[in-house]
Amino acid sequence: MSIISKDISKAIELLSAEDIIAIPTETVYGLAGNIYSEKAITSIFETKKRPFFNPLIVHISSIDELSDIAAYVPKKARLLAEAFWPGPITLVLKKKASIPDLITAGKDTVAVRVPNHPTTLELLRRLDFPLAAPSANPFSSISPTTAQHVESYFKDQIKMVLDGGACTSGIESTIIGFENDEPIIYRLGSTSLEDIEAVVGSITLMTKNDVAPQAPGMLDRHYAPKTKTILTDNVSEELKGFPDKRVGVLVFTSEIEHPSINTQIVLSRTGDMKEAASHLYDALHQLDVHDLDIIIAERFPDHGLGKSINDRLQRATAS
Ligand code: TXA
Ligand code: MG
Repeated sequence: MSIISKDISKAIELLSAEDIIAIPTETVYGLAGNIYSEKAITSIFETKKRPFFNPLIVHISSIDELSDIAAYVPKKARLLAEAFWPGPITLVLKKKASIPDLITAGKDTVAVRVPNHPTTLELLRRLDFPLAAPSANPFSSISPTTAQHVESYFKDQIKMVLDGGACTSGIESTIIGFENDEPIIYRLGSTSLEDIEAVVGSITLMTKNDVAPQAPGMLDRHYAPKTKTILTDNVSEELKGFPDKRVGVLVFTSEIEHPSINTQIVLSRTGDMKEAASHLYDALHQLDVHDLDIIIAERFPDHGLGKSINDRLQRATAS
């Protein structure tokens, strides 16, 4: 029997009983539990096989609840929350003492956001506790953007996937931390750098080496298909290296003609990066079931959401 359901009351019942369920957001599905329940939070880590040193994002229903979570909110953090919430920006702020260490992996900061999905906003409003929710995929595999993706990962381990349809943004939230009250990007994501800079001015992008202590989940191979995947500026040239292989190709706007291509997915025929981002993970999920020898992905233009898409493709190809 399917565990996918639209029943919000049932979701409330399970979460109130310290169970975990999957919830929809505009970015990806999350594996959610009561932030104040040690049982629920432990089971999120165990179900995902996520190391305990990698902290979780707290989801709240409105900016008004931020004062329950963060002990201090820099001016630019407030500007960003006002500009983008509900929406795909996560702020890393000094935590209140009441936030359990399990959520923050012992750090004195907490990641928090208001997701922009009607079902989950209703759910959060009706609950009397916030939800911790990492992406609902096993550690380091492709993030889920449909209820079916989650079901195929976890159908024997969780009781319910709250169905909210396909995620509209399709890649995770942009994560922003603060140093001396100035914002720093910890993870590229569904809100572009350009849109963020329009609100708070020029912003620092944390380099790969700095990321480790700040956002440990961002270091290694991540968002990865099981099939070996490579990222290139020139798919046609790369194809020459695999004459007798079963090749899958992931391109931005238009098909490539080549006899080696077994399966090909175009992410946006009109060249719309928002559309491409919303289809990215589903395309990787689809290519991954074709029993291919290799997936060749085309690099995106390095601006706007293209930067975030390239970041995910880069991590999908890391070994
Ligand atoms: O779009 C999203 O953000 C989705 C949906 C479900 O909201 N969630 C998500 O969660 O992507 P997750 O757990 O897959 O990624 C959370 C990232 C991790 O890389 C973690 O290291 C970082 O957030 N993070 C969480 N708390 C942090 C903190 N206190 N300081 C620095 N990084 C933190
Ligand atoms: Mg994740």
